[in-house]
Amino acid sequence: MKTLCIQDLTVRDGNQSLLATRMEREDILTLAAALDKAGYHSMEVWGGATFDAAYRFLNQSAWEILRDIRKAAPNTKLSMLLRGQNIVGYRHYDSDILERFIRLTIENGIDIIRCFDALNDIENVRHAFAYVKKYNAHLQAAIAYTVSPVHSNEYYIDLVKKYEELGADSICIKDMAGIISPENAGQLIRALKEVTDLPINLHSHTTAGLTQFVMVEAMKAGVDCVDGCISPFSGGTSHIADGTLLTIADQLGLSYTLNREALSDAYEVANKIADKYIAKGDYRTRSLISNPKIFEYQLPGGMLTNLISQLEEQGAADRLTEVLQEVPRVRKDMGYPPLVTPLSQMVGSQAVLNVLTGERYKVSPSEIKTYLTGGYGRPPARIAEDFRQKILGSDQPFVPSNADKLEPEYEKNFAYLEELLGRKPLEEEVVAYTIFPGPVEDYMRRNELSAGQPEESFVVDAKPAREPAANSAPKMQSANMKTYLITVGSEEYKVELEEVSQSS
Ligand code: CO
Repeated sequence: MKTLCIQDLTVRDGNQSLLATRMEREDILTLAAALDKAGYHSMEVWGGATFDAAYRFLNQSAWEILRDIRKAAPNTKLSMLLRGQNIVGYRHYDSDILERFIRLTIENGIDIIRCFDALNDIENVRHAFAYVKKYNAHLQAAIAYTVSPVHSNEYYIDLVKKYEELGADSICIKDMAGIISPENAGQLIRALKEVTDLPINLHSHTTAGLTQFVMVEAMKAGVDCVDGCISPFSGGTSHIADGTLLTIADQLGLSYTLNREALSDAYEVANKIADKYIAKGDYRTRSLISNPKIFEYQLPGGMLTNLISQLEEQGAADRLTEVLQEVPRVRKDMGYPPLVTPLSQMVGSQAVLNVLTGERYKVSPSEIKTYLTGGYGRPPARIAEDFRQKILGSDQPFVPSNADKLEPEYEKNFAYLEELLGRKPLEEEVVAYTIFPGPVEDYMRRNELSAGQPEESFVVDAKPAREPAANSAPKMQSANMKTYLITVGSEEYKVELEEVSQSS
């Protein structure tokens, strides 16, 4: 009897997809401890947006949270999500920073590193793969799964062959938007099984409401590992419930290492924590509604939640459909990048700007210019020429990013923090600061530099609220003027618009 391995994602992707990564440290630790007793193959607990969110929203060090999770969950392998040369940020960092980040991650308790590149550009994961191997963690190489005229199963098979050559220990089909069809889940897994003996994990989201069928087909095709969440954090833009996975496995005669009794105890713990966030309004209950339109828009779970909540909070929810319809057009112009961080933020923000300004590509995030000149690597398909011309204005060469040519940042940032803190900064502090200078410096000012001084003395340093996903934050100025703040990565765009007609 084949044993199906099950990974729980509650603390990382569940948290990111349903709570916009707002889960507090004490709840993360309580959940990790409860889930640790259930017998999962592994738990994804860190990386992705959680690193940024720790400093930005929780006023916590992401490294300390990781060490605490490790202590709270001593029996289960811990995994994290790494964006290749983008690490956990929104641009490419030099390889010295990448190596330090990976070494520290492993030293602090991570066993499995799931690594992908948003463009599936092998050059953007090559270095990360080498460092994961060098420091002896399990390298799970992930394909960013998407559907487009250029993303065939043959395309993914070629990628997996390259991953295997580069030393991958396992493969993940990372269906971040939840758009894989049941039929193709089966076909792709069977096709991959013909070219590799590496274990295959399927990661999908329940956004469209088809995941149960996807998992049935995947298990029939011999998938080795599947991802889910404890049920109070499952469904909608999140993932299939772990309990549902067990039921499917039972039906298909697969065994597993999970203990149903311990799982039920973890369920009780998770339920109470979910109640707290539902009461606080951080649990995005609208994100639980099945949305089959996702096949068209392809937004990843976390981004759709963020987009909905941002538009709702700012009273611009009525523009959501227009924005979602614009997303596939921008994506096509950009050469069909998979919509995953940071490309999802770039495409999403450009779509928001196109809709709000009423003119396509009138305003464009600087990240898109970087993309058009090669700063994020090679796009999957040709970039539309008129789009390129409109944004770049002049003919600028496309030079694919080369990590070895990026200026090393560690020494410079070490010196800056030493000056700021009046002591030698820790390596983990320099690495965190390099990836997220604004949120990490704000965190240090609040916690280390504000001792004995009133909070107000730092208000001058306060920057406008920033979010790690595409945002649109209109502020009423007058009856017919609106200012929208749109954030991409760490840059903010202010768009002022006059409303001339009420068209809906
Ligand atoms: Co995901």
